[in-house]
Amino acid sequence: MKKAVLAYSGGLDTSCCLKLLEDMGYKVISVCVDVGLSKEELKEVEEKAKNLGVLKHYTIDAKEEFVKDYIFRAIKANAMYEGYPLSTALARPLIADKVVEIAKKENAEAIAHGCTGKGNDQFRFETTIRIKAPDIKIIAPIRDLNLTRKEEIEYAKKKGIPIPTESKKYSIDENLWGRSIEGDELENPDFIPPEEIYSWTKNPAEDKEEEIVEITFDNGVPVAINGEELNPVELIKKANEIAGKHGVGRIDIIEDRIIGLKSRENYECPGAVLLITAHKALEQLVLTRDELRFKEIVDSLYGELIYKGLWFSALKEDLDAFIDKTQERVCGTVKVKLFGGSVRVVARDSKYSLYNKEMVSFDEKDIDQKELAGMVKYHGLQDMLYYRTKLLK
Ligand code: ARG
Repeated sequence: MKKAVLAYSGGLDTSCCLKLLEDMGYKVISVCVDVGLSKEELKEVEEKAKNLGVLKHYTIDAKEEFVKDYIFRAIKANAMYEGYPLSTALARPLIADKVVEIAKKENAEAIAHGCTGKGNDQFRFETTIRIKAPDIKIIAPIRDLNLTRKEEIEYAKKKGIPIPTESKKYSIDENLWGRSIEGDELENPDFIPPEEIYSWTKNPAEDKEEEIVEITFDNGVPVAINGEELNPVELIKKANEIAGKHGVGRIDIIEDRIIGLKSRENYECPGAVLLITAHKALEQLVLTRDELRFKEIVDSLYGELIYKGLWFSALKEDLDAFIDKTQERVCGTVKVKLFGGSVRVVARDSKYSLYNKEMVSFDEKDIDQKELAGMVKYHGLQDMLYYRTKLLK
């Protein structure tokens, strides 16, 4: 019996894959990796897989691992790609890793995924699979058969796969770090998204009251909200909830996909925007200017690695070493004001603060001002010389 393990989400793409794999003569083992779905949603996915005739279905709770080993790293790196907090991208290597584990356990011949040949996820899944299980066969039925959504719907009808209703006209990907909404009229970049596409964030225009929220960080990761210590998963949920209430984290961008296509993307990442904003504010207080400048470069490389699905790369490990070292001092609290879709830092405090009130204050004598005259005098030395050469022209 040929067995294939399928990364299964319950959506149209992966449901078609399930049947296409059967057409190819495989018995299918479906795996749904839970990186932030509700119990009901997980149950629905499982039932759907079973109704479609899988040999076996696995639901794997990877929420805690996702937050501790992925989201917390993303926060430490202020990870963004073109203004996108990388919610979907961040979960893919973990999902692929879990699917590989099952494939090994089940002695499967192949691993399958439902990605199309146009997006980023094919890179993210397959790179991780090839790193973790170099010999296993990878099947991407939708991509390999060059199927369009219309053709998928035709095929689904034939095979008794439930067809997405009008209310599900968007392609949605959700996990604890954010929600992405694509497709249908949103594919026109000049089309203004209707309020109905959002489900985690309230309309910023309807916000009534501002709220001050305090985030506590330890070694660069958030550990408490408003003084209440929370476990990692609860903390991320709470951050989403609080920021979402004020319409924070709506993102509408033109994104450069790995293959070069520009795509119009809508995201709701309230918790990510809140926590990264607060984290950056604390770094400003405790890291030196040189560290901050260098870390900006590291952070941007890190975000790009996540986007490109290179989570299990050598460079990522190297950057982690640098980032972890800097985060030893990123301990303290940040207060932000949330209102009408915006998050504004209003206070910060840390025992590792490099801020020196006595020295910077207008009222104190801790800096011997006259000593600065010499430092200032030659500050622009090279430019003074440059301006002289200009006169020669
Ligand atoms: N453009 C984003 C990314 O590549 C989101 C993709 C969302 N996927 C989806 N099936 N809706 O990370």
